Amino acid sequence: MDSNVVWHDSTVETAARAQSKNQRAGVVWFTGLSGSGKSTLANALDFELHGMGNHTFLLDGDNVRHGLNKDLGFSDKDRVENIRRVGEVARLMVDAGLIVMTAFISPFRADRKMVRSLFEPGQFIEVYVSAPLDVCESRDPKGLYKKARGGVIKDFTGISSPYEEPLSAELTIDSAQNDISSSTQQMMAALRQFGFVA
Ligand code: ADX
Repeated sequence: MDSNVVWHDSTVETAARAQSKNQRAGVVWFTGLSGSGKSTLANALDFELHGMGNHTFLLDGDNVRHGLNKDLGFSDKDRVENIRRVGEVARLMVDAGLIVMTAFISPFRADRKMVRSLFEPGQFIEVYVSAPLDVCESRDPKGLYKKARGGVIKDFTGISSPYEEPLSAELTIDSAQNDISSSTQQMMAALRQFGFVA
């Protein structure tokens, strides 16, 4: 970074922005294989929180890769940059007082740790959406596993690119065993436990 760029503090602080919305700002970071249910669960939580009057936003891998990150592919290097940018965007949104849901495979522990470090303790909840590879592969909602097995897509997570399971996520949801409604209850319980919502 250019050493002539100086940080400006704003007079209105994050807590004050969140307070004006009667909430505590933070990130709910979903991680898991493609087809594990991250987007579905993030969306369900977003809907629930929004319905309760919270000010939320959902950042989803497939969508962010159409815009901000459309220059990035799926090499390890590009995935690292993808997650770095999303972490920074989520941080800006948290600074704006929002509860942010992010749904990205985010396959590397080091990157998830780096993103976590951008936030204050208690502002970051990692949700591991866990489903066995064979379940995700049988769901194959976008037909991508089939293409990956056929060698049409390279560097596909779980097939030809690694996924590092979280070792200490705040919440793990087994999406092969739980439906959306019970998963949403588990997420809401975790959000209450961590003080995001009353
Ligand atoms: S991440 O690894 O960089 O976090 P991200 O969540 O943004 O990935 O994007 C994953 C989505 O891109 C998948 O849900 C899938 O629809 C699509 N995709 C396309 N190619 C790949 C690939 N090689 N590996 C994983 N997902 C891919």
